[in-house]
Amino acid sequence: MIRAIATVREAGASRLVLEVPGWPGQRPGQFAMLGLEPERLRRDPLLPRPMAIYRGDASALEFRFKVVGRGTRIMAELVPGAKLSLLGPLGNGFELPSGPATLVGGGSGIASLYELARVARPAPRVLLGGRTGADILGLADFDALGLELSIATDDGSLGRRGLVTDLLAPRAGETVYACGPLAMMQRAHELAAAAGARCRVSLENPMACGFGACLGCAIKTPAGFRYVCTHGPVFDSASLGWEAGS
Ligand SMILES: Cc1cc2nc3c(=O)[nH]c(=O)nc-3n(C[C@H](O)[C@H](O)[C@H](O)COP(=O)(O)OP(=O)(O)OC[C@H]3O[C@@H](n4cnc5c(N)ncnc54)[C@H](O)[C@@H]3O)c2cc1C
Ligand code: FES
Repeated sequence: MIRAIATVREAGASRLVLEVPGWPGQRPGQFAMLGLEPERLRRDPLLPRPMAIYRGDASALEFRFKVVGRGTRIMAELVPGAKLSLLGPLGNGFELPSGPATLVGGGSGIASLYELARVARPAPRVLLGGRTGADILGLADFDALGLELSIATDDGSLGRRGLVTDLLAPRAGETVYACGPLAMMQRAHELAAAAGARCRVSLENPMACGFGACLGCAIKTPAGFRYVCTHGPVFDSASLGWEAGS
């Protein structure tokens, strides 16, 4: 059982900081399953929810999330000292680029990319998008990394008006990393393929267990079924059957 140290509800996303004694560390792009403490679970049988590890070290783990339903609403209302269950680190995470890279994040998917932006060398380009400026999660943190950073918003309240993929111009030989809405990741895949770049996408499918037991996160790919929790969440975009809407 772990404890919340801080919870902050912000305009576009909430921030949850947890004390996790003995945390083994994480690779960029890995996630955790966050759930209610067993005592509360008896009254409210809520499945744990998958959340990207935004950043973390031996003393604290941080998550950034959007309130979309019951689970995230409960998480956003936790008070410091509240108890939670945590399972992680889970998933394959991102393979670090060996050359130039562009990171493309949309909405809550931005949370999966911060650690990668922080550790990737050479420093990647970062493109972030949201409905409004307030939806660009972790903007100050990305800004502080001193990277080439561009923003697009649907309403033009920050950066360029339009889609974040409008900013994407992949270079041959580079790696594009994308996390966000499916249509955004598909567009990143198409632009990368046309330019001769690799593309890795991190999928955010709903999950029940997070470790391969429930088979609830299965996706159909041209090579057969894959499980987002254990084979992913990061996939080579070329391995996914976009045409079939996987
Ligand atoms: C590996 C992974 C990492 C993730 N990391 C983050 C993160 O860092 N920050 C963050 O904000 N979110 C993240 N998500 C998404 C997050 O897990 C869901 O938003 C959350 O589970 C919703 O739970 P809920 O109980 O609030 O909503 P629910 O009550 O379960 O759902 C409410 C509504 O949202 C829809 N919905 C639920 N899950 C999703 C989803 N994944 N995509 C689109 N619509 C959905 C449902 O269909 C429903 O209409 C991640 C998901 C995965 C798989
Ligand atoms: S979430 Fe249970 S198998 Fe993937």
